[in-house]
Amino acid sequence: MLEGFENYEGREQSAVKHEVLRRYLNSFTHIVGFKWHSITYIDGFSGPWNAKTDDLSDTSFSIALDELRRARNTHSLSDRQLKIRCVFVEKEAGPYQQLKEFADAVDDAEILPIHGEFEEAIPEIMSFVQRGSDTFPFTLIDPTGSSGFKMKVIAPLLQLQPSEVLINFMLEFIRRYIEQEGLRKGLSDLFGTDDFDENLANLSGIDRDDAITDKYCECLRQFCNYHYVLRASVLHPDKDRLHFQLIYGTRHYEGVAKFKRAEEQAMQEQEKARAHVEEDRRKRKSGGQTSFLVPEIMPESDYYIQLRNRYLLQARHKVVSMINSALRVDYDDLWVAALSFPMVWEKNLRQWLKEWRKNGQLEWKGLAPRGRELIHGKNQFVLLVGSKLQ
Ligand SMILES: C[S@@+](CC[C@H](N)C(=O)[O-])C[C@H]1O[C@@H](n2cnc3c(N)ncnc32)[C@H](O)[C@@H]1O
Repeated sequence: MLEGFENYEGREQSAVKHEVLRRYLNSFTHIVGFKWHSITYIDGFSGPWNAKTDDLSDTSFSIALDELRRARNTHSLSDRQLKIRCVFVEKEAGPYQQLKEFADAVDDAEILPIHGEFEEAIPEIMSFVQRGSDTFPFTLIDPTGSSGFKMKVIAPLLQLQPSEVLINFMLEFIRRYIEQEGLRKGLSDLFGTDDFDENLANLSGIDRDDAITDKYCECLRQFCNYHYVLRASVLHPDKDRLHFQLIYGTRHYEGVAKFKRAEEQAMQEQEKARAHVEEDRRKRKSGGQTSFLVPEIMPESDYYIQLRNRYLLQARHKVVSMINSALRVDYDDLWVAALSFPMVWEKNLRQWLKEWRKNGQLEWKGLAPRGRELIHGKNQFVLLVGSKLQ
């Protein structure tokens, strides 16, 4: 099995989810530790669920706790104390028992285990967060379907300032809901509105997946007052289809940069895992013959490339239309707009802006005297000085 994915055979999508969580929390916890005295990690749908390890190290709550400890250790080297607080919520009795045993064995963090439903636990979670002075809450919502996190019920928790959230938006279930119940009946509670564009119902495939996800991101932004909502697309390990979207909400642009970094690294891991699954399937079919290609260095799959090209094209169109219509645009605005598309990285945006500057269509302003790259957060902007961009 691919290194790092040993415990995820048959559920490689969970490995990708854990990669995004681990890598993002690694940055988040270190940054937060500079300014806040504690972090409150809230796992709304904790599990354990399909865990393969005895020590539960392949679960979201254990991964999160590890990252929190790592940051606490780093900060302690500079005499900063970072307190770790957690809320773990699990509805089912069996998994809750395991979760409780895990929590009881932890003696270096304050943990509140809750046996019950996430929505019903919101008031208790909020009072736990508010009891922690100077704390930064981060909530993971990782359900098994599309219920149990109605927008209007979870909004008070997610509106807390500061706070961030990562939501597993299970497209498989959402598609089924739309087909069985229609948009309004199926999704109103989840989205917090029944104001759906009727055209959505006429879309299909990836167009519908994207439109639905965009709508959910918009609702999350509005109802929970996030400034930035982004998503990482997790693919089926062995099908050319999106499995789920990991939707991330933040109020700070530094969060955008760190989430994109986590997304980019997780996408590389995802492609390796998918290549591995493909190689296993091929081997079974060919009676055990190994291919000369090693999955770790196999090229990206056609489907991944196709998806990435789709989002690159959309991001480029967005950037072009922003510049063509405003003529002068802050780099920060272009940066957020482009990076809001999955699988689009800052280097892509910079490459387009370089191409247009080279063609004499664009000028870059506000760079430091020897600055060679546009950088976010530095009040830099671009100016359209030539013909409209295509
Ligand atoms: C997908 S699993 C969580 C996996 C875990 N986050 C991880 O990555 O290791 C979802 C868990 O939520 C539990 N659950 C389902 N509905 C729930 C609800 N309404 N409130 C709390 N827990 C719920 C399920 O029993 C299951 O253990």
